[in-house]
Amino acid sequence: RPVIFSGMQPSGDSLHLGNYLGALVNWVALQDDYDPIYCVVDLHAITVAQDPKALRENVRRTAAQYLAAGVDLDRSTLFVQSHVPAHAELAWVLSTITGFGEAGRMTQFKDKSAKQGADATTVGLFTYPVLMAADILLYGTNAVPVGDDQRQHLELTRDLAARFNSRYGTTFVVPEALIPKESARIYDLQDPTSKMSKSAASEAGLVKLLDDPKAVAKKFKSAVTDTGREVRYDRDEKPGISNLLDIYASISRRPVASIEAEYDGRGYGDFKKDLAELVVDHLTPIRARTLELLDDPAELDRLLGVGADKAAERAETVLGTVYDRVGFVRRR
Ligand code: TYM
Repeated sequence: RPVIFSGMQPSGDSLHLGNYLGALVNWVALQDDYDPIYCVVDLHAITVAQDPKALRENVRRTAAQYLAAGVDLDRSTLFVQSHVPAHAELAWVLSTITGFGEAGRMTQFKDKSAKQGADATTVGLFTYPVLMAADILLYGTNAVPVGDDQRQHLELTRDLAARFNSRYGTTFVVPEALIPKESARIYDLQDPTSKMSKSAASEAGLVKLLDDPKAVAKKFKSAVTDTGREVRYDRDEKPGISNLLDIYASISRRPVASIEAEYDGRGYGDFKKDLAELVVDHLTPIRARTLELLDDPAELDRLLGVGADKAAERAETVLGTVYDRVGFVRRR
């Protein structure tokens, strides 16, 4: 079975609807036909300042949300990035074939460093995408299910794989991005021109998987819409409604056109109320299951340990080949 690899940062107290619809839903669906490896990328999370106590908690919360959403340990490998040292080790090797200018062209780096200011921008933030390439290439990954914002990082990963292969002989599989159609980019409910993000300006536009159901409903009912009253998809003229239609379509698994038809002549109020209900009904069991899993952190840690052993074995084989290819002497 083809290998898929993906990960999310444990950089907040909950995943959000963008993480869920842009990636996690796909992770769950792909388990039947692929050999999936899902990671909590804690090494990536510390590229921006984290409180150590909160980080430890959020790593478990992230893993619990993967499981609650339907990641199934009989079919998938689930582990924490820092448990498998090969990730940092391969990242070092890949950094030696990454151009300085090439890394500097990553738009996420440019955005984040602009926000933080030059003095607060770290080397870790700069080399972030190289570590991401290492994550993916360590497992012979064929495909990477992610949201649209990771497209450029995937391109870099492909370039590095091809470059290494041509310099040292074929070692890496060149992976494809798997990006969903409708939910590749979910936008903030209060500012439907910026993507939904953990670092949102206000909580009102950010729908968290672990939000209390009342809070979720309220966020949808007060979502920013556009002038006019037609429920019609138009990304340029009606970014608010279009975002809500994307959310509705991906949760209900219905085409946008059939939803537009259902609300023809009914205005925004009904539409937002129904959408709120749809999302709440969908997220309630996921939230409940997450909280249940978090009640037993020792069991969660045990499951993550099993995943780390499985991942490490595979990663070490590939890293060993890489070390041979670059000319390191094998340790006896
Ligand atoms: P992260 O933690 O920012 O986001 C996790 C996943 O959620 C997707 N996503 C979105 N999708 C749609 N709309 C949004 N508003 C939205 N916000 C986030 C992201 O595209 C991602 O799929 N660099 C990665 C983590 C990573 C990784 C990897 C991913 C590290 N190593 C290896 C894949 C393979 C990141 O920061 O994701």
